[in-house]
Amino acid sequence: MEKIVVEGGHPLHGTVRASGAKNAALPILIATLLAPGEHRLTNVPELADTLSTLSLMGRVGCPSLMGPVVRLDTTRIAFHEAPYDVVRKMRASVLVLGPLLARHGEAKVSLPGGCAIGVRPIDQHLKGLEALGARFTLENGYVHGTAGKLRGAEIQLDMPTVTGTENILMAAVLADGTSVIHNAAREPEVVDLGRFLQSLGARIEGLGTSTLTIEGVARLAPGERPYAILPDRIETGTWLTAAAVTGGDVTVTDTDPELLRAVLAKLVETGCEITTTPTTIRCKGPDRPKAFRLRTDPHPGFPTDMQAQLMVVATLADGTSTITETIFENRFMHAAELLRMGARIEASGNTATIVGQPRLQGSPVMASDLRASAALVVAGLAAQGLTEVLRIYHLDRGYEQLVTKLRGLGARIGRVADDAHDPAVLRGALDASPDPTVPA
Ligand code: EPU
Repeated sequence: MEKIVVEGGHPLHGTVRASGAKNAALPILIATLLAPGEHRLTNVPELADTLSTLSLMGRVGCPSLMGPVVRLDTTRIAFHEAPYDVVRKMRASVLVLGPLLARHGEAKVSLPGGCAIGVRPIDQHLKGLEALGARFTLENGYVHGTAGKLRGAEIQLDMPTVTGTENILMAAVLADGTSVIHNAAREPEVVDLGRFLQSLGARIEGLGTSTLTIEGVARLAPGERPYAILPDRIETGTWLTAAAVTGGDVTVTDTDPELLRAVLAKLVETGCEITTTPTTIRCKGPDRPKAFRLRTDPHPGFPTDMQAQLMVVATLADGTSTITETIFENRFMHAAELLRMGARIEASGNTATIVGQPRLQGSPVMASDLRASAALVVAGLAAQGLTEVLRIYHLDRGYEQLVTKLRGLGARIGRVADDAHDPAVLRGALDASPDPTVPA
């Protein structure tokens, strides 16, 4: 296994391209199951999670080809199981439930279990699919669903769950009659999935609002043109926070400022100078960030997936900041690692109080989940000396070419075997060791 080594203290400058959004690409790749035939998708990020999804598609009998245009052949569905070894690596595997039940009448998915950020049940997914006529049993850690022809229904979600909304939406597009999802998630990735489904012939109204109305159709077919995945707003935001904490000047291209309103507003509060065009965002970091208050919320509120990165900004701010996490019950794992770098953070319940320090110190730290890992890399970029971020398989799941992109902005960063400790070897990695072309 490898770790990331970062030498901090170099302001980032330049331009970096946003990749396609992981959390839109995964459901869209899976949604191709709904329309038999050959699909073409562009702007699909080359990530470990993308490869896991394509491998899962292979397991149900749908071959694919990765490349600038991803091709998937969903003519035949031969199997209907998402086994534990795939779901364990990627919770989004649970998204096969809706499409498999709608097209194939049967689906068996290993229950994902908890993860580093919380318990994360899927009761809302199952409740919605049951309302459409599916029946579920729990068998040895697997949820086994069967369905005849699904029927449209009114579904009231207890919370606006992102993948829950996506699973129910994918099932409803092929149901008989009309479905309404109340309290639906409004995240841009849900909207992108909805647009993709529309490109297959689905009839959906209300995308981007909390009420989705779906008129079921008898069949869907692959679109004529390749579908382009929307830009990754969380990756975009991560590069902007890297500019914020290093006093840098970074422009992210091929992105969409509309997707990041809450994040940009918060960065402005911290003293960043933000300028936008319809497809670019430039962030000039302040000499020292100002303290702020932040609370995560479902879209269009501040995204939980940017909470850890903003906590790094708070650790360096002039004053005391508070961050309240309302989406996941256990998403402050990065705080303990930031303490090792000299941050002052006290977490009580779902609120963290952060007393900003003039600087952080490089140190070895352990990544606990994808966004925590990204935050630790951002902290390393600002810290004095060398930071080593262990367990980077999380980063490979969600950030395309992270080392290459950050080097393009002038960062001193590299990958090295995680048992390397010789300072000369660690420093050597700062100039060599690019990203693997295909993540492990
Ligand atoms: N929840 C339930 N029951 C359910 C579904 C959700 O109690 O049936 C709870 C969750 O436990 C959580 C809250 O509802 O407390 C919201 O979770 P949600 O279902 O919206 O999260 P998700 O769909 O599992 C997606 C993203 C996450 C992102 C969240 C919130 C994908 C593949 N994952 O997860 O992304 O944090 O929405 O925006 O889209 C990441 O990319 O690092 C990541 C974790």
